[in-house]
Amino acid sequence: MTVINNYIIAGGEEGKKRLGVLADVLKTYTRSLIESVGSPNGKRFLDIGSGGGHVSLMMSELAGPEGHVTAVDFDQDIIRLATEDAKEMGVKNVTYRFMDAYELEYESEFDVAYSRFLLSHLQKPQVVLNKMARSVRSGGRVVVEDIDFSGHFCYPSSDAFSDYVNYYSTISRNNGQNPDLGLSLHSMFKAEPMLEDFRLEVIQPYFNEGIGKWMAYFTMDKIKETIIKQGLADTVTVDAVLSKLKTFTEDKQSIISLPRIFRVSGVRL
Ligand SMILES: C[S@@+](CC[C@H](N)C(=O)[O-])C[C@H]1O[C@@H](n2cnc3c(N)ncnc32)[C@H](O)[C@@H]1O
Repeated sequence: MTVINNYIIAGGEEGKKRLGVLADVLKTYTRSLIESVGSPNGKRFLDIGSGGGHVSLMMSELAGPEGHVTAVDFDQDIIRLATEDAKEMGVKNVTYRFMDAYELEYESEFDVAYSRFLLSHLQKPQVVLNKMARSVRSGGRVVVEDIDFSGHFCYPSSDAFSDYVNYYSTISRNNGQNPDLGLSLHSMFKAEPMLEDFRLEVIQPYFNEGIGKWMAYFTMDKIKETIIKQGLADTVTVDAVLSKLKTFTEDKQSIISLPRIFRVSGVRL
């Protein structure tokens, strides 16, 4: 299988650590979203763009021994690491698959198809949303969480934070992806003829302290290579932004948000 990985954030082991922090910060929010789509016990879940497998493991716990989770990602290293984690933890009801989301060919096999922060990394997100809809049985749910990067905020204003938001948005758009996809997520669901009964909400955690406040800094660090590769700035400039962002994050008065997170679900006809 040929997989072209054009993901803008560093993946593998380092990427998994960043996703682990993100998963901790969002744990209660994502758990309540999954529980809100109906009793998860015994259900068959599909987790697309599963990254470090943090949500897949949460789903596997909620699904219980009668349920199952299939998790898919096109980062071979992260799939290996997540598989090792599940093995070490004795989790038996998760299967990780190294696969490009565009290659999904499931038909009515799942009760819930889920993705978090995947569609904003795709050039053709509607194609994958359609595949998610096909993958669930009639009455099953498609659930997506994704970002509106432009909805990010901090206080007080910070040039380093603005630079970070601009860099992320630019490298994403240069790759033909939409960093503000969350804004159009509901419209994308409505354009999908197989789906009805939509639910939508927005969440936006923000922090004055704690690990969540460091997400902007961690992400800037993990997009550094792409910024340089795309020729937007050199190493010295990017390191200076990182250093200023670190100082801003350490400032006890400052607050830093995550991007706005849109959460939409729909039921297959
Ligand atoms: C921001 S991470 C989110 C990971 C996980 N869903 C979470 O919330 O922790 C996006 C993941 O999507 C994966 N990804 C991006 N494009 C993909 C594609 N075309 N097919 C499969 N996985 C993809 C990346 O490798 C990465 O692990």
